[in-house]
This record gives sequence, C-alpha cells and structure tokens, in this order.
Amino acid sequence: MTADVIDGKAFAGALRGRIATLAADFTAQTGRKAGLAVVLVGEDPASQVYVRSKGKSTVEAGMASFEHRLPADTAEADLIALVNALNADPAVDGILVQLPLPGHLDEQTVIATINPDKDVDGFHVTNAGRLAVGQPGFVPCTPLGCLMLLKDRLGSLSGLDAVVIGRSNIVGKPMAQLLLAESCTVTIAHSRTKNLPDVVRRADIVVAAVGRPEMVKADWIKPGATVIDVGINRVAAADPGKTRLVGDVDYAGAAGVAGAITPVPGGVGPMTIAVLLRNTLVAAFRNSGIALADDAI
Ligand code: GUN
Repeated sequence: MTADVIDGKAFAGALRGRIATLAADFTAQTGRKAGLAVVLVGEDPASQVYVRSKGKSTVEAGMASFEHRLPADTAEADLIALVNALNADPAVDGILVQLPLPGHLDEQTVIATINPDKDVDGFHVTNAGRLAVGQPGFVPCTPLGCLMLLKDRLGSLSGLDAVVIGRSNIVGKPMAQLLLAESCTVTIAHSRTKNLPDVVRRADIVVAAVGRPEMVKADWIKPGATVIDVGINRVAAADPGKTRLVGDVDYAGAAGVAGAITPVPGGVGPMTIAVLLRNTLVAAFRNSGIALADDAI
C-alpha cells in the first residue's frame, strides 16, 4: 500500500483564503481590522523566525499585527504589565506570548494574565477547562489544525481508535480532548507507556507529537491507518554539514503501510499559523458581539 499524502500546505492555503475573505467582512462591519498582538521576550533564533512569520501572515490575511519585542532580561512585572495593557486595548483581539520564555519568567503566571477571551493560543487554564467540558473557547492551534486535517480526510471520526503519542499541554492533551469530543476511543501514550508499538498498532488514527526524529516505525502502523506527524526535528543530512527536517514518524516506511500520512515539512506545520489566524478572527467577532456560525471557518 502507498499512503495518500495529506497536503497540509494546500489545506492551510485554502483556509487562509477563507480567513482573508471573512477578515474583510469583519472590517466592513466594524470599521477596523481584527488585531493580533505577539510578544517575544529575548532573542531565541527559532522564536524570532516564528514571530516574523506570524506577523507577516497576519498582515497578509488583512488583519493588524502588533509586535512587542522585549529584552531577554525583562522583569516578570514588566511583561505582566504589557499583557494587561494588551488585555485592555480594544484594537487587540488576540494575544500570543511566544514560548519558551527565558528561564527567570514563569510561563504559567504569564499565560494566566492573558484575558481568556483573547487567548488565541488556547493555553489559559480557562480555555483548557472549556475544551475539557465542551464549552466554546479557544483550542491550541496545532491540535486543532490536526483535527481539521483528520476530518477532511475521514469525515466522521466516531468510534475510531486514536492513539496520541505525547502528553504536552500544547499538543498531546488538547489533541486527546478534541478526539474524545469526536467520539474516538482515545489512548494517550508517552515515555512510560509499556509496549508502545503494540499500542500504536491498534490505532485507526495515530498522532505523533513527541519530538523524537523518526521514532514511530512502519511496523507499528495498522494497515490503512491515518497518520498525523506533528514532529519537526532537524537532523544531519547525507551531505556533510547539511541538515534536513524529519518528523516523529519514519515517513518513507510508514507511507508503505498507512492509508494516509502528513509529510514533514508541508503537513501539520503550515496549519498552526492558519489556525492562529482563524482563532484571532473568531476572537474579533466574538469580542465585538457579532455572531459567527460555528462552521464559518
Ligand atoms: N512556541 C512554539 N509553538 C508555540 C505556539 O504555538 N504558541 C506560542 N505562544 N509559543 C510557541
């Protein structure tokens, strides 16, 4: 069997097109652009790339981007004061504090300061709780993007066996909640799971989010399963001195067994920013008191 390739880049491009159309509607109705504030503390090179890319995509979608770059030695009180100012700013619909933060700053304290109705990352405990009990809120971008790809591929997920590998607050746990809400039978596997290959072999849906290059092997995959690879790992390439990106799944092997699989790059990665824009626009409509159909974007 050769798996179908799930083209996250194309799906994200189409989603961004729909977002741009709706963002223009928002501006026509309110006389202002939906706005996303991104806060970066310090000079982590990967974070700088992400933040630049988020700002560029926000503007491309017809929304306003507010970037706040603070020095690495920023005091927690100053960061919290900035978040509070953004909470109070009516031009700001969504707030994202880029993680990881420098070690002297407590991430949970900072996230807890964000108004949950502007928490477009879905990291605030209020939004984690809303997801757990099925109330409307904001869902972390990467798992929501994975769910969109799964539903596009499979339609109803009801009754399917899903295995999520990884239990992070950002991906694994919310992914499991989303799959449970779709009536999957969900297993969360992690570094202490016994006999991981056998656990994965039961799955109709595999979501790999562990950050270990090519850990999931072809013979762990049930024939025909749908495989979503969240990993983005940089490894040495065959050419000396060069690197390449690989996922958490042995793509070449798994593609011979799975029914469908996301590539790395070009699978889940492009979905994260598209969903961030989606969450920001949803925040803008909600916070302006304009009704938006659940399936509008
Ligand atoms: N760092 C890596 N991914 C993310 C993300 O999705 N949101 C934030 N805030 N920081 C990140």
